[in-house]
Formats: sequence, structure tokens, C-alpha cells
Amino acid sequence: MPTALQTATALDADWWRQAAVYQIYPRSFADANGDGIGDLKGVTSRVPYLKALGIDAVWLSPFYPSALADGGYDVDDYRDVDPKIGTLEDFDEMTAALHQAGIKVIVDIVPNHSSDRHTWFLEAVAAGRGSAARERFHFREGRGAQGELPPTDWTASFGGPRWTRVADGQWYLNTFTPEQPDWNWDHPEVREDFLRTLRFWSDRGVDGFRVDVANLLVKDLPEQLPSKDELAQLDRTSGTHPLMDRDEVHEIYREWRKVFNEYDPPRFAVAEAWVETAERRAKYASPEGLGQAFSFDLLVADFEAGQFRSIIEQNLEQVRATGSTSTWVFSNHDVTRHATRYGLPPLAGRTVKQGVEWVKAGGPGAALDRQGGLRRARAATLLMLALPGSAYLYQGEELGLHEVAQIPAESRQDPSFFRGAEWDGLGRDGCRVPLPWTPQGSSFGFGAGGAHLPQPDWFAEYAASTQEEAAGSTLNLYRQALALRHELQGAEELEWQDTGNDQVLAFTRPGGWLSVTNFGNAPVQLPDGELLLASQPVHGRTLPAHTTAWLRA
Ligand code: NOJ
Ligand code: CA
Repeated sequence: MPTALQTATALDADWWRQAAVYQIYPRSFADANGDGIGDLKGVTSRVPYLKALGIDAVWLSPFYPSALADGGYDVDDYRDVDPKIGTLEDFDEMTAALHQAGIKVIVDIVPNHSSDRHTWFLEAVAAGRGSAARERFHFREGRGAQGELPPTDWTASFGGPRWTRVADGQWYLNTFTPEQPDWNWDHPEVREDFLRTLRFWSDRGVDGFRVDVANLLVKDLPEQLPSKDELAQLDRTSGTHPLMDRDEVHEIYREWRKVFNEYDPPRFAVAEAWVETAERRAKYASPEGLGQAFSFDLLVADFEAGQFRSIIEQNLEQVRATGSTSTWVFSNHDVTRHATRYGLPPLAGRTVKQGVEWVKAGGPGAALDRQGGLRRARAATLLMLALPGSAYLYQGEELGLHEVAQIPAESRQDPSFFRGAEWDGLGRDGCRVPLPWTPQGSSFGFGAGGAHLPQPDWFAEYAASTQEEAAGSTLNLYRQALALRHELQGAEELEWQDTGNDQVLAFTRPGGWLSVTNFGNAPVQLPDGELLLASQPVHGRTLPAHTTAWLRA
């Protein structure tokens, strides 16, 4: 028999398995000093809001010192706070306040690349070709008579070449922007330094880590490099691709796991790894590795019963094999908000990021079914919150916010907009606009000053303060759903119920929690059971179109 203390520790170690995690994009959440940029004191000031929302953890996107060439994913110093948004003391204060409210803290670790202002990169540039300092990155000579051409014709993720030339003529590898030089993970000092960073934040009381592009760290860059066309032909599922998802990356995460397990409870980690198959993803979720991995399967699906059902089935089957738990996510700081996606014509095979193109093509008024999109988003979210596993929510979705399409070019910040990334015409600023807390004020209550990305007039309708008072608001739907989830959630199991209608998905969780979603356009009869919550008003025993209801079966 375990002692009471052991049982408590074991439970605590499993806190993440079915957690509702709320992602904060710190520069756009709340601005305490009125300079237009969200800050850590702003997060602290909103702890009561987060507590009332009922989430289990927050994940903070990078708050480290950064020139913001990529929204903070260009890190100058992994063990400090950007002076523009706070200090380490502010961080400690925020963590203490969140913990006091029963909310865990997850921070973002960006191990594939640093920034071009990181001390080691500055040192590498200054030390010159052939130096030990350059070994920590991927420096190469160029092609052409004078080395004037990049070593390969590869394109960076946000457009432009994947190599950047320094003054002495050498080139360095940058998977994203030139301001984000890729680390050389074959270098022992790089590995050591990240272990130090993991300990630094763990010692400060952080409960876990979200690992940025966890699949890209290890590279195989022989003398003779493949061309872009040759790369495109290479298998991405065998663990041998030169640039992504190589099997050796898991050695790194086994080392990280040892560090996580030095703590009680062990520190948690979730991999961001857009890999090709569910089998490849499972490797990141191994208990000897990071332990959990994001699944973006639902995020790239249409609001359609068949797609939802098969994705849910596949993901649940997957985690039975790894021992991890499923992850569900509809929105984050990289994609068009799901209320907007579901208000656009179905994706039907196009990628989710191209959804933005529709907003651009028709303009929000013309192309977007604002109400219908939000209605479907609420139904989808309520379904997701009934699933076993972790639910990842993105700031502002609890307000039912839409993507902001109309941001003038001169106000935009995302490098993918400026560098003409092939995959995303408008970039990602539209989901990063500072939150509306009140219907009035110079930045809708975001702070006493302005907002670093312009907020549209329609933000007034979505203000948190108004929604707090409105019974059927999206904010209250999230609050009620999260509170009920705590109450109802038990074993990580789900049983599908036959609805006799392929537009209607229903499943029960242990203890008689029944979730029913009507994906169809026509109302249907509600099954038996006490109605607990619904994403739209329910009259009698009729479940309206595009609505989810929770019942006690
Ligand atoms: C994934 C992050 O979510 C995204 O915002 C960032 O631009 C890239 N990784 C590069 O760090
Ligand atoms: Ca500020």
C-alpha cells in the first residue's frame, strides 16, 4: 500500500495528463506599465481572471531578451527576462501568484536556434572562420568563385535563403530568419548549456516546458549537401532526413528527461513537432523523452463529424501505445484563430494557414461568416474539453475572438509577412493582437497606453468585462465548461455512442459524462440525460445545428 504522501506525490506527478493549458503570448496579454507591450506584471495582475477561468496551467511563449525578429522566438539570453517586459523578480512574483492560485507554469524553450545577438553567436562572428566559437553553429563556405553563393539553394521557413553571410564571407545556417542562427547540437557545450537552462527555470519553480520545433535540432550536414529539389525527394518518415526528425534527436531528450526527473514532481515537457506521421510524433511523447507531444490533427481539420471522429480515434489509440496522453488544440500563436477558420469555406485539403488567404481575398466582411464561425468554434471547443487528455487553449479564444485580418503593412511584425513565406500570405500577427479587456479605453483595457499591434473597433464587442456579465457569453461557456470538466473528469477513457446519424458524434466518459455534437445543419433530438451545458441555447430536448451539449447520462 502506498502511503498517503506517496499517493499525493504520484498524483502530483500526473497533473499534466488531463490538464487544460492556457497559452499566454506575453507581449499581447496585459500591459501593466502602459507602454503598449504586454508584460509579466500584466500577467500577474490577471491571475484572478485565470483562476476564474478554471485552467490548470499556463504556457508562456518566450519572454526572454529578444530583438523580436520572430516574436521572441529569437532568444538573446535563455536565462533572463526581456527588460521591455519585466525582470526575473517579476517572473518569480508571477510564478508565485499563479502557484498560489493553483495554476502550473510552463515556459517555452527554443533549442533549435538562438538569436544573432546571443553572446555565443556574437563571439562566433568575431572569432572568424575556423574558430572553436563557430563550431557551436553551422558555418560553411559558400559556392561560386568567391564563395558568394549560399552553400545550398535551400529556402528558410519564413522565406529567403536558409544561409546568411557574415562579413568575412562565411555563411551560417538559419532555418527560420537570418536573426535565428541554428545551433550545432553535435557540440557538447550546446547540449550542456541547454541542460543548464532547464535547471535554471526548474529551480525557479517552473513546472514544465514547451519545446519549440523539437524535431529540428539534429542535422546531418556532410561536405556534399543535397539541393532543394533533392531534399524534397527525401523520405521524412525514416528518421534519416538531413534536416528534420532525425532519430538521434531523441538522445537529447533522454538527457533532458534525466534532468526533469531530478525534480519532484518531475518537470513536464510537451514537444512541438510538426512531423509526418503519428508514429513519428509518438517518439517525442515517450516517457523516456519529452513525455507529451502536440497533435495538430484537429487543428488542420474541417468542422466535420467524420474527420473529427477518425482523428480522435487515431490519437487515442496512439497514446495507448506510448503511455502519454492525447493533446488537443485548435488555436495558437501561429495559426488563424479557429472561430475564423470555421467561418470560412471548408479547407477541404488545403492547409490551415492558407485559411488566412480567404480573409485576405474577400475581406472579413465578405468572406467570413462571423457568427457561424464562432458558433462552430464553441461547439468544437466544448467537444474538445470533454475528451480525455490535455486541452491547449490560446489566449482570446475564450472571448470568441476572430483573427484580425486588417492590419496595415506598416504595423505588422511577423517576419513571415515581410519575407514572403510561401505558406502564409498575411503572417501570424492577426492572432497576436493585444486582448480586449474592457469595451472602452485607449487599448480596450489591455493597458493604460496603446497596443503594439492595432486593435480593430469590433474588439469592443468581445471585451472580457462585458462577457463576464453576460450569461451566454463565450467567456462564461469556457468558465462553466472548465469547472464542470474538473468535476466530471475521471479515467482517460472514452466510449462512442451510436447516434444513428453520421452528422452527430456522441461519447461517454467514465461516470456518465455524455458529450453530443451536432455537426449537421438540422436540429436533432437530444439523448436522455440531465443537460449540464451546451454551446448554444437548448430549448426542450432539441440539439440545434452546430452545437455541443454535455449531459449526465
Ligand atoms: C514555432 C513557433 O511556434 C513559432 O512561433 C516560431 O516562429 C518558430 N517555431 C521558430 O521558433
Ligand atoms: Ca508593458
